[in-house]
Amino acid sequence: MLIRNARLTDAGGERAGDILIENGRIARVGGRIDAPAGCPVVDAAGLAALPAFVDLHTHFRTPGYEYKETLATGSAAAARGGYTFVNCMANTKPVCSSAAMAQSLMDDAARIGLCDINQCISITKDFDGHTVSHLRILPHNLRFISEDGKGVRESKVMYQAMAIAAEKGLTVMSHAEDMDLSPIDYRLAENLETARNLYIAQSTGARLHMCHVSTREAMEDIITAKARGVKVTCEVTPHHIWFDDTVSSYRVNPPIRAKADVEYLIAAIEDGDVDAIATDHAPHTEADKAAGAPGLVGLETAFAVCYTRLCVQRGLPLSTLSRLMSKGPADILGLNKGLLAEGYDGDVVLAELEQPFTVRKEDFAGRSRNTPFDGLSLRGRVVMTVKAGKVTYRAPDAPAARPCEHL
Ligand code: DOR
Ligand code: ZN
Repeated sequence: MLIRNARLTDAGGERAGDILIENGRIARVGGRIDAPAGCPVVDAAGLAALPAFVDLHTHFRTPGYEYKETLATGSAAAARGGYTFVNCMANTKPVCSSAAMAQSLMDDAARIGLCDINQCISITKDFDGHTVSHLRILPHNLRFISEDGKGVRESKVMYQAMAIAAEKGLTVMSHAEDMDLSPIDYRLAENLETARNLYIAQSTGARLHMCHVSTREAMEDIITAKARGVKVTCEVTPHHIWFDDTVSSYRVNPPIRAKADVEYLIAAIEDGDVDAIATDHAPHTEADKAAGAPGLVGLETAFAVCYTRLCVQRGLPLSTLSRLMSKGPADILGLNKGLLAEGYDGDVVLAELEQPFTVRKEDFAGRSRNTPFDGLSLRGRVVMTVKAGKVTYRAPDAPAARPCEHL
């Protein structure tokens, strides 16, 4: 596929020109490129071309909760949001604690073909809070462990998990929540768990990734730990930088925080202290939400929310947002994705940046509609997603891929 005339932006900056994708990879980029015979051509004049997005934190609900989302509906939501790869959490039913289960989910997603996944393994077996021996026998392609949805209660257990992680080169993804404290003080619950996990990572030498950081103190501690040489990365979600608790009480864990927290998170993004924006895409039915289920769907709104909040309102360069949504997460996951450069996977998003549009949850491709962004006017609409040179999503007004003029 040849993409013509787009404004090319990635973590390295901006330039004009074309992108040629051959055999699933970017073959050439920049300047005027002649179409090889038989190559479909997309005229992307007036659109931005970015490397497709990578989500470090997704819940696809398979197996066990397919009534909320399936691999197929989740993949369609990801494609519509501009994603070609997501990292799925283990809080399924049964909990994902085995290599066989993870591999079969990754194979199924690859067969669907819209969005590849990495499947995380639970830190403790079946979320029992104690057993970590299953981590010792993980094969080389499963490198991410997470108890997302829950914190690991006992410090000793987290220490044992991180010691194995350090030995085996696994990354521990931390849902920072001291479950004993969250009913009493959810801020303290996040802050204490963050500090504890940073110290355990320092002591064991494990690679730690802090999920959905939401408080000023937690972010401060992560920044300090990075300066001390702790191998820690962190993500911030679109909802935690869009809403504060004076405008929304939408139920999500961690909760929507105070204005001062939101300001601090955005400043940390501006200062380069944040490694990725991740959605925590958490589909729930209306009935489950009414019964108090925490979480919101995020894949289909993430780019527009972040583009509007960070680039339009705060003047953040689009190349920085590209780093946070593509190169940063791709590097953490060890993928050959995230840049518009020769040899990288041929995964590209075309986005319309100028015209405001209204989020309509009825238009979502995912199965669930639990979004606090419905009805919002945003900028940064994904109009086409390309994965390995094939179109996985196109908006009704997206440019057509035409057979090239040589045919
Ligand atoms: O609000 C949330 N919902 N936070 C999480 O960490 C988990 C998620 C879920 O699985 O529904
Ligand atoms: Zn989550």
